[in-house]
Amino acid sequence: MAEDNTLGSADEVDESRRTFVKATGAATAATAAGVGVPSATATATRKIRKLIDEMTLEQKVGQLTQVALGESGEGFDPNDEFATHDDVETVGELFTDLHVGSILNGGASGPTFDGEEFVAGLNGLQQFVVENNEPGVPFIWGGDALHGNCLLDGCTSFPQRLNMGATRDIDLVERAATHTGESVAAMGGHWNFGPTLDVLRDMRWGRYFEGHSEDPMLLGEMGKARARGFERNGRVAATVKHFAGYGTPNTGKDRAHVRTSMRDLRTRQLPPYRRGLEEAKTVMVNSGAVNGKPAHGSPWLLTTVLRKRYDFDGVVLTDWDDFKRMLTNHEYRPDTDGGWRQAVKEGLQAGIDMHMCGGETAPTEFIDTTVDLVESGELSEKRIDESVRRVLELKHEVGLFEQPYVPEDEIGDIVGGAADVSERLAKESLVLLQNEGALPLEDDGNVLLTGPGIEDGTPNRFLMQHGGWTLGWQGVEDGFLTADGPRPRQTTIEGALADRLGDRLTHVPTEFEPAVYESIYENFDNGFFDVTDEQEAAVLEAAGTADAAVVVLGEGPHNEGFGDRDRMRFPESQRELVELVDGETGDEVPLVGVIFAGSPRGTAETFQHLDAVLFAGQPGSDAGVAIADTLFGDYNPSGKLPFTWEGNVGHVPQFYDDYPPRQSVDASAGTVQFEFGHGLSYTDWEYSELSLSADSVKDPATNPTVTARVTVENTGRMAGDHIVEVYNTEFYGSVLQPHRRLMGFERVHVDAGGSERVTIDLDLSTLEVVPGDVPGWRPKVVEAGEYECSVGAESTTLTVAKTASITDPEPAPGRYDINDDGREDFADVMALHRRLKRRR
Ligand code: BGC
Repeated sequence: MAEDNTLGSADEVDESRRTFVKATGAATAATAAGVGVPSATATATRKIRKLIDEMTLEQKVGQLTQVALGESGEGFDPNDEFATHDDVETVGELFTDLHVGSILNGGASGPTFDGEEFVAGLNGLQQFVVENNEPGVPFIWGGDALHGNCLLDGCTSFPQRLNMGATRDIDLVERAATHTGESVAAMGGHWNFGPTLDVLRDMRWGRYFEGHSEDPMLLGEMGKARARGFERNGRVAATVKHFAGYGTPNTGKDRAHVRTSMRDLRTRQLPPYRRGLEEAKTVMVNSGAVNGKPAHGSPWLLTTVLRKRYDFDGVVLTDWDDFKRMLTNHEYRPDTDGGWRQAVKEGLQAGIDMHMCGGETAPTEFIDTTVDLVESGELSEKRIDESVRRVLELKHEVGLFEQPYVPEDEIGDIVGGAADVSERLAKESLVLLQNEGALPLEDDGNVLLTGPGIEDGTPNRFLMQHGGWTLGWQGVEDGFLTADGPRPRQTTIEGALADRLGDRLTHVPTEFEPAVYESIYENFDNGFFDVTDEQEAAVLEAAGTADAAVVVLGEGPHNEGFGDRDRMRFPESQRELVELVDGETGDEVPLVGVIFAGSPRGTAETFQHLDAVLFAGQPGSDAGVAIADTLFGDYNPSGKLPFTWEGNVGHVPQFYDDYPPRQSVDASAGTVQFEFGHGLSYTDWEYSELSLSADSVKDPATNPTVTARVTVENTGRMAGDHIVEVYNTEFYGSVLQPHRRLMGFERVHVDAGGSERVTIDLDLSTLEVVPGDVPGWRPKVVEAGEYECSVGAESTTLTVAKTASITDPEPAPGRYDINDDGREDFADVMALHRRLKRRR
């Protein structure tokens, strides 16, 4: 065993980590300043190599094992019983006996919601590990701080990812992620399992709220910015997930296989992950199967594409229990010891570095099987060493070897912070879907507010504004609120309207119980909604004298498979509530619908009764103030839909950049309710003088960006933000082209009556296609020809002189792997030669 396995940094801190810990003690160390941001130096590489040479096989495999704590109530005390599985007795023994290298708390909740207790607990466990675990390598903690660090009481719950997509505000989204990263680091965590970069296409999927968009470029840019934000402090690693294709599971069923084609995969599904990989240190794999192959067992995805084509050398992590899922979910191998052994072997050979052991996989199952595979010669130790190197490098990069502890007094100031960012993001994310002169409301009358999810006094109501991954997997405390349980920092609609209107507000909350662990067969609405006779009477009474009525509609918080749904229209009681208020209020009384949902929820059946509809999504902590300011015109709505809102669930999926036609022959109307990019404002916008920095591009490979300029005039009477989007709207090439493709966007603020000349960078890689016939294996290219570029009704032509590749000049990865051994080399030339000879 090495005396000194400190890895050193740029300035060569060379004392032994153990000596460091002993000399200072955890408490002192925890308050020590100067948590370093080491760069990967030659010294570190050498020391990591030496450390690996000195580790036993069991210790190495331990480093590749991540164990979920908290599943059966485990805390951070090494003496706590490890009750989820029976392979060790205590949490401490996970490290001393099994040499586990990583732990996670899944579901956005840990053993405590108190930030200071959290960091003290992690520091204490880390001290135990550093002092007692051979070879003394600190563990790395991972978790899901996905829209703010919503593992802690009083947190800022930033708007969910779908809302982020609606803002098109990359800088602001990055600022929110930076705060999240700081909060995770201050809590003692070093690994955040985001951003999610799965293309959205199907609102039936229970994780729809987690994607940012159905557009690959917008999604990729959001993800890149978020990864950069999470990692900015140098102490946290981000995760691009779920590689690849997880966002389009068959019929919207979570973790089902993905229906895609090589052409779709290469032009639409893979590019967002690739953008995110420019910043993120780690990757998590798709639990589903892609084109009939489980992603966790795909050398093509995890090695040929990820490692070789994308040159990614960071840690690749499984998702929760996903080697097991190859047997149970996908029925890919028999659910026997032999099947399990095969799945582990295939997964590690495919390129996975670390296995996440959740409730279904005892850590020893993974560890013993892997050790045995190596000892029996079925898996090379070199393969294991490669993964251990990546894990140790990751720990080095986030500073764990230099400073395994975290100051315990940082977190208090951070938890509920960045309120300004959160409020602005919430406002920018609201999408005004329709408005027949009803909004903004006059600030001098009586207002009726009714519906579910509107206040915080009564248990469960406020949950709709936050969604999943908020102080619990399925929403705050998993929907089972305790009286003094944790809450996000928050304003509600009722709170904000009461502040503004005083006793001119009447509010009638209607029944809402979350349905968080109900499957699609038990609850179709993502919540139980009802209106009691008493509530109905109160609504009728207030409606008679109201000068305006606001009805909140939508769905409860949900997550993963429990969130899958088979409908788009509002629950029956909500539909009836709208009709009730509509019937009781006169034509002159504005009736406004506000939707809290993580997906397009609502159809014309209800919208026809509403004078205005505001899609609020899941705007988080600052929902109340953002919505109230928007309803009364203190904020001018500016969000744009990041997805296509179909007419009803029968038309799903109809993403905007699919090939024409998107509907049945002659069925041109009614299939789509609101298009991608739709979003109204209280003012009017006009465009003129669209021009390009170059009307013609000789070679897109060397000139991948063109700048568009357009004048945007605010011709109405209210100042506001406006998102200018440039689309490619026409092109004829060798294969089908979408009707519209987003090439670039920019958010600007323009005063009433003013105008701005806006500059927008157009990313020509958005025009890349895979040419050629059905197989779709050719290099991706921008084809030569004339591309129509449009901003609203303004358009101009960009001529591309030469067909060229920007992101991928090679044919489909693995195309030349004739003998299917994961390599493209001379042996393939010979294999091809033999094959062709035989054919002759
Ligand atoms: C989800 C991942 C998440 C993990 C850990 C899984 O069920 O698919 O996205 O990071 O749990 O909580």
